[in-house]
Amino acid sequence: MLVPIYKDKKLTVSADGSAMFYSLAYQEAYRAKSIGAFTESLHKFVNASGIIDKARTRDVRIMDLCFGLGYNCATTFHMASQQGITNRLHIVSIEKDAHLLELVRNMPILWPLDGYHMVRNCLQHGYCGNASMEIYVMEALEAIYHINGLFDAIYFDPFSMSKNPEMWQVEVFARLRSLLAADGVLVTYACGKKARANMLEAGLKIEAVSAAKGAFHPGTLASR
Ligand SMILES: C[S@@+](CC[C@H](N)C(=O)[O-])C[C@H]1O[C@@H](n2cnc3c(N)ncnc32)[C@H](O)[C@@H]1O
Repeated sequence: MLVPIYKDKKLTVSADGSAMFYSLAYQEAYRAKSIGAFTESLHKFVNASGIIDKARTRDVRIMDLCFGLGYNCATTFHMASQQGITNRLHIVSIEKDAHLLELVRNMPILWPLDGYHMVRNCLQHGYCGNASMEIYVMEALEAIYHINGLFDAIYFDPFSMSKNPEMWQVEVFARLRSLLAADGVLVTYACGKKARANMLEAGLKIEAVSAAKGAFHPGTLASR
């Protein structure tokens, strides 16, 4: 069967109907196909972090590690706009693969439409209404040492530990811990023993995030 291939990425449709990619380089999907790209971002990152509730009363800063196809960013902006949030949402995102940004700019089918409209404006102008973004197109292991200030939420979303081991090291979690605000949280889709052990060794406290309907695994929420 022929499927659209964009460089090293294969386009596919996930369970909730949202488009996503499979990475031929990493041999892994960018999102959980079984629950859906949008649904995974909503449940395991945006809702799990409680960031929309925080944004009701104050400006918030989010670190998005890594941007991928931008689902976590677009879903955050979508939810904030649905909930009538007027405080500022600032996202600092890191991604080493510039091709993904090109795809996001040029794929009008990405959903939620309003969230992606805001992401595209942020990529072009740096802001869109009360949303703003800085994107570091570089190696995350370097970027996290250039970035300062504290974050209310860190979306930790590299590929899995077996495919993307450098991102799951104790030192990375220790650096991210130092970038969390006192009540900030790091959220991730993963629940593996080794990943959680590395978070604990870095001084983070962890708890499980219940699995979304149709998902096989719970996520993890970590705090200082
Ligand atoms: C699971 S995908 C992210 C999905 C994304 N958050 C979304 O909402 O679509 C993992 C991403 O991490 C990026 N990545 C992996 N290792 C990296 C590294 N060392 N530095 C920067 N980006 C990295 C990959 O290019 C890929 O886009």
